[in-house]
Parts: sequence; C-alpha cells; structure tokens
Amino acid sequence: MKPIRLVTASLAAAALAVSLAAPAAAAPPAGDPPRGHAKHDTLRWVAPKGFHIGSAVAGGGHHESQPYPDPFTSDRPYRKILAKEFSSVSPENQMKWEYIHPERDRYDFAMADAIVGFAKANRQVVRGHTLLWHSQNPTWLEEGDFSATELREILREHIMTVVGRYAGRIQQWDVANEIFDDDGNLRTQDNIWIRELGPGIVADAFRWAHQADPVAELFLNDYNVEGVNAKSDAYYALVQDLLAQGVPVHGFSAQAHLSIRYGFPGSLEENLRRFDRLGLATAITELDVRMDLPESGEPTEEQLAQQADYYRRTLEACLNVSGCDSFTIWGFTDKYSWVPVFFSGQGAATVMWDDFTRKPAYRALRSTLAEAARCGAQRPGRGWAPGHAPRSASFTDGRR
Ligand code: XIL
Repeated sequence: MKPIRLVTASLAAAALAVSLAAPAAAAPPAGDPPRGHAKHDTLRWVAPKGFHIGSAVAGGGHHESQPYPDPFTSDRPYRKILAKEFSSVSPENQMKWEYIHPERDRYDFAMADAIVGFAKANRQVVRGHTLLWHSQNPTWLEEGDFSATELREILREHIMTVVGRYAGRIQQWDVANEIFDDDGNLRTQDNIWIRELGPGIVADAFRWAHQADPVAELFLNDYNVEGVNAKSDAYYALVQDLLAQGVPVHGFSAQAHLSIRYGFPGSLEENLRRFDRLGLATAITELDVRMDLPESGEPTEEQLAQQADYYRRTLEACLNVSGCDSFTIWGFTDKYSWVPVFFSGQGAATVMWDDFTRKPAYRALRSTLAEAARCGAQRPGRGWAPGHAPRSASFTDGRR
C-alpha cells in the first residue's frame, strides 16, 4: 500500500499548493467538506487495490410498491453516492427475468443498459444477477405450458442473449441463484428449471453463459451459506462434481443477509476458504444486517454497534481469503432497503440512514478497508479487466 500512501501525500501537497495560490475564489460552499477530501473519504478510495466494494442498484422489485419514483433514475444525490462510494454495482432487480424478459418474444434492456452504462462512466465493474432462479420469473414462463425441449431452448436463448449482450462488461454473473433449500436439497419443486429439466440443467446454464461471455466469472450464489452447514456443504459437493465434469464454474458467493437476532456466522472465513482451496473465486454479494426495531422505530446504540460489528466481521472474513475480492452490500441506504418490506418489524439494515448520513456500520467498513490497504492486503493479481480469463485452478474448459 506504500505507493498509494505516497500518491495520497503528493495529491494532498498539490491541493495545498493550489489552495495557497488561489485562496477565496476556489473555496467550497459552507458546510461542504473541502474538495478532494470528500473523494478520499469514501469506501472505494480507501479499499485495497483490486478489491471491489459494491452496492445493489435500487430499482424494480419492492420499490415499485413504494411511494417514491425509481431510485436509480430519479434520485440524484443517491446516484452521486453510488458513483463515489463503490467500485462495483449489482442490479437489484433489473436483470431478473421478469424485468429483462417480460414477454416470450420481447426483452427489455433499458434499465440494465442504464446500469451498465453508469458503471462504465464511473469506472465500476458490474455483477450480473441472475440467470437461473426460482423467483421473480415472468408469468408467461411460470404458467406457460412448455415441453421440456421448449423450456431448455428458452433458457439457452435467454442466457445467450442476455450474457451475450453484456459480454466483456460484466465481471461476475450469478448464473445459478438459490438452487438448494436450507437442508441442502436441490429445489426440485419451486425451481421451474430443475423441476422440469432435472439437475443437469445447472451445468448447462454455466456452459451457455461461458459460451456467451468467456471472460465473465460464473458464480453459484445463495443465502444462509455463510457458515459451514448443510446448505454450504451441498454447494461444496456440487462444485467438485461440476469441476470434475469440466463445467465452467468459477465462483461461490454468500449473499449474507444477516440479522443481529442471530449470532454471527463464525465459520464464514473457514467456509470461503474451503471453496478458495478448490480454486474458486469467492464473494460476498448481498450483505445487509437487519434488526428488530424498538417501538420508537429508532435502533439503540447497542444495536448499531452490533450491526457495525457484523459488517466488519463479514468484510474481514472476505479480506482474509485471497480469492475473495468482491464485497457487495444490498443497498447503502435505509431509504430504499428491501428489509422493512420483507421482514415485518425489522429494518435499519444498511450502512446509511434515509438522509444518507453514515452509521457506525459505514465507518466500520471504511476503517477495515483502510486498515487492510495499510497492511498491504493487495489482491493477488487477479484484478479483473475485460479480456482476462477467469481464475480457476482446477477448471478445465469443457470444450477443449
Ligand atoms: C430482492 C430485492 O431486493 C427486492 O427489491 C425484490 O422485491 C425481491 O428481491 N436474494 C436475492 C435477491 O438473490 O435478488 C433478493 O433481492 C434478495 C434475496
């Protein structure tokens, strides 16, 4: 991290020289942090080089039933913070089937294009979410009476079209989302693909995605897989099976929708590490930490401290595993969080209040990132850029 410190120091010196040379005219409006300082004060700025700190991009899904316009396209202060604080973005809903493929013969790429364009303009990477899932599928798909042959072709065509459209511009794709239940059984009932086409469709989804974009890192993603447990064991077995078949699977990610009602998943690091040892990339993809709100609706100091601790420990676990270089929070402000809508009586799950002021959890993330950067926690040279092949030690391209 020494080079970064030197750069910081010389920038600071340059800024000082400029402000000495041209005092009053360039002074920022009262109340604003001094220019330059604001930039250095953000998560992406302090993070170790090559480590991607991300947020979900609010839009679609639960937002549509809320009394505000589409956050991503309408809320300018929101967009500004999204650009300033994060080096990775994930569409919260905008690439899910119901949005991007609303009718059998019609795709709607407007929202997804806008996010990918925003990311490019702000030098951010994108996590694509998601291709094979049991939820948020359009009615035409769930209720269409398709034969197995037709369904297989529908999935293949969808993956080739969507992944192909953004080829080279998506760092990581959640190819398969939530395919196991909490006992570690494949979802053979509510997942239309697995139910109608059998478990082998998961491998096919990865093969098609890899064909459509050979440089995207392809992930299995789920919730309640932070610790070592029946569900993460099922992924551990599946991954080995897929790798043995030469299926292009490159990553395993834990969503990390946590709650201070429960203990912190203490085996998170150990769990990520065992996937890392298989040669897979790992990631935290949807972190939030919810809590039961007191009657006042205001979290207590203790709750906020515990929440900050959960954010910090999740980040530390990822930073401690060399192939974990993507860490995404599921929205950065309570203003748009999905938590109060989905978990009654709970909330305050993100790192900023409704007015974008920062909570202890924000400061916990920033100081942990800064500390990792100071300790020289450079990521091990698999910093993704278009054209780089995905890392995967035991991965052999099935087509060779
Ligand atoms: C949630 C969104 O945040 C909501 O806006 C939407 O109404 C429902 O889905 N696991 C996932 C995410 O993989 O896609 C979910 O996102 C949260 C749980």
